Amino acid sequence: MRKKIIAGNWKMNKTLEEGQSLASEVVNIAADEVAADVNLVLCTPAIHLGAVASITKSSDKVSVGAQNMSEHESGAYTGDISADMVLSTGASYVILGHSERREYHNETNAQLGDKVKLALSKGLTPLFCCGETLETREAGNHVSFVNEQLKDSLFDLSAEEMQKVVIAYEPIWAIGTGVTASTDQAQEMHKSIRDSIVSNYSQSVADEISILYGGSMKPANAQELLAQPDVDGGLIGGASLKSRDFIEIAKSY
Ligand code: PGA
Repeated sequence: MRKKIIAGNWKMNKTLEEGQSLASEVVNIAADEVAADVNLVLCTPAIHLGAVASITKSSDKVSVGAQNMSEHESGAYTGDISADMVLSTGASYVILGHSERREYHNETNAQLGDKVKLALSKGLTPLFCCGETLETREAGNHVSFVNEQLKDSLFDLSAEEMQKVVIAYEPIWAIGTGVTASTDQAQEMHKSIRDSIVSNYSQSVADEISILYGGSMKPANAQELLAQPDVDGGLIGGASLKSRDFIEIAKSY
């Protein structure tokens, strides 16, 4: 069944020490305040993964994820990190296809499809990001644009693989801007993503897949977004950098 997931994307923020403190705060507060059926994921800079995973190890609510990984198994790829490396730190998730990776590192749908397959083959859960620019939305092409991203990167997975993927819908115009999609805009896209999984796979596969919303989610707007029938959680950037804000979002579920 669809898991409730609140994932924090720290992006390129926090020194090791700051990251360790943040992770400890989240683990401690979550133990008392976050409902048992809400899963928290801390997606930290790669260099912090091992240290943060050793802090979250004792928690049954908090897991760790990377923000990216290579589509190659291993080899001469200076500066990259492999799926095996991510896994060996104790992390269990990996964000793939974040719009900042697509934009600044020219990641393509085909390359992301390879990354998703490799992550799944290693037992990592991909948090696959999709979402349109403002221009695409204003032209009325947002649904077809996102559908194309899913088709090109995910829809050649087997049903068994597909149901292990987590999808994050992150409209680019809402990321880090303070502008959030309205509940209707979020629900429309989440439903269309789920419908497209139903038509390419089946209702039972679609019923397994969590679809998270990302883009300026914060304590003040989380409750109404998370109340939408096809929203199964959030991918939180800015508001995940403060333990209190991150936990308040999880509590509003
Ligand atoms: P934001 O980032 O919450 O700061 O808008 C979300 C994301 O990029 O995952």
